[in-house]
Amino acid sequence: MADCILVLDAGTTSTRAMMFAADGTMEAVAQQALTQHYPRPGWVEHDAAEIWDKTLACAREVTGDDVGRIGAIGITNQRETVVAWDRETGEPLARAIVWQDRRTAGFCADMKQYGHEPEVQRRTGLLLDPYFSGTKMRWMLDHDEGVRSAAQTGTLAFGTVESWLAYKLSGGAHLSDASNASRTLLLPLDGAQFDEDLCELFGVPRAALPEVVDTHGQLATCDAQWLGAAVPICGLAGDQQSATIGQGCLGFGETKATYGTGAFVLTNMGQEIPRSEHRLLGTVLYQQDGVRTYAIEGSCFVAGSLIQYLRDQLGLIGSAAETEDLARSIEDSGEVVIVPALAGLGAPHWNPDARGVISGLSFASGRAQIARAALEAMAHQTHDLASAFAADGAPWCRLHIDGGMSANDWMAQDLADILDLEVERPDFVETTALGAAILAAVGSGMQDSLERAAQAMRGGGKTFNPQMTGDVREARLARYARALTAA
Ligand code: G3P
Repeated sequence: MADCILVLDAGTTSTRAMMFAADGTMEAVAQQALTQHYPRPGWVEHDAAEIWDKTLACAREVTGDDVGRIGAIGITNQRETVVAWDRETGEPLARAIVWQDRRTAGFCADMKQYGHEPEVQRRTGLLLDPYFSGTKMRWMLDHDEGVRSAAQTGTLAFGTVESWLAYKLSGGAHLSDASNASRTLLLPLDGAQFDEDLCELFGVPRAALPEVVDTHGQLATCDAQWLGAAVPICGLAGDQQSATIGQGCLGFGETKATYGTGAFVLTNMGQEIPRSEHRLLGTVLYQQDGVRTYAIEGSCFVAGSLIQYLRDQLGLIGSAAETEDLARSIEDSGEVVIVPALAGLGAPHWNPDARGVISGLSFASGRAQIARAALEAMAHQTHDLASAFAADGAPWCRLHIDGGMSANDWMAQDLADILDLEVERPDFVETTALGAAILAAVGSGMQDSLERAAQAMRGGGKTFNPQMTGDVREARLARYARALTAA
């Protein structure tokens, strides 16, 4: 019986495939790491062929001879990353430019200088920052001969990672779901398709872009050559939107924070287009039958990648898990504060030129103080976002957390303490993949609504309640605010 869902989760550092049963149980998982290319400071690239090859290999590994059990495929992905390929050969034309890449900072600054930001924000919900796809596409056209000549001959296809995978799996469908498309700077929040005027503003040929489709429904079909049988693709969503759904944040005002490579907070804002006045983003959460539900988002570029940096670049820790014991081994960080601006600062500051800071060092500052300060930085940057969300009229009444770092109990408690808010963590923290499974379950008709699917497929969780006194919290936040001025 075809009652399972195959989820492909193409993230920033790895790509995975997972099999979900109809009740949301994850039955199998396969994962492969992705090569990160850093050709220059601030540049981050992926090989799109590697993303495809490894995703397919993972899919085959979890599927085995069980393809008959798969009723639908759901795809979720690192967002904003741009792939350029040739429609005739189906091969990438250049390395993919990753969401973390800052090479278009100058171009964004020029556009701001010319006064384009207010109109771009009003139409797309986004700001002029190199994070988003549009300026990355423009960069490829300006600097890559292969991309430019494919544009001239009309064979150029641009897409984000879900678009690339759907194209490969289906053998030629060129589509992007509305949640991913809303991260490009080229989709108006109230427009069904990519917009001519926005394309002209960023110098991106409209003809190279995919068709914008729903996040769930009968979206495309995976060709039988890949898994041994044709399987419908019924869910497509950016990983942060997918995690919001996987957390069951389906009601107005419900909020999740994912601590993965970066930290991304989304609040469900219902069907009204959100307008941030405090440097947050308006984005599509999901789209069904052309009707959109929106979210306000705060994106911090560095979360788990800070812990990775302590491990791989500084050699201060042997594994990410060590940070919990190190944090617990001391009373406080001894006034050490880290501002994790290693890739500039995202929301609500949006300063691509900011750089990381470690302040308050004394001879007493050792590994434990630095590891603890790194974990504390998560609560500090989330608190910055909480203030901006509240000022935008979207205060959080509880925060649902997930992502690799959320497994750290010390950090989860620190979040509750600094935010002075109830923090909930599901027992099954793979909410990004679960969200894609929920979308595919509804898109294929296995479930009749997102609410019912979430109810059937989500499990229990653990709650962290605030315990910190107000003066400790104030002192921590004041120290962070001082350190931020040096970033
Ligand atoms: O916007 C970037 C985001 O989608 C990346 O997510 O999970 O790879 O950190 P992640």
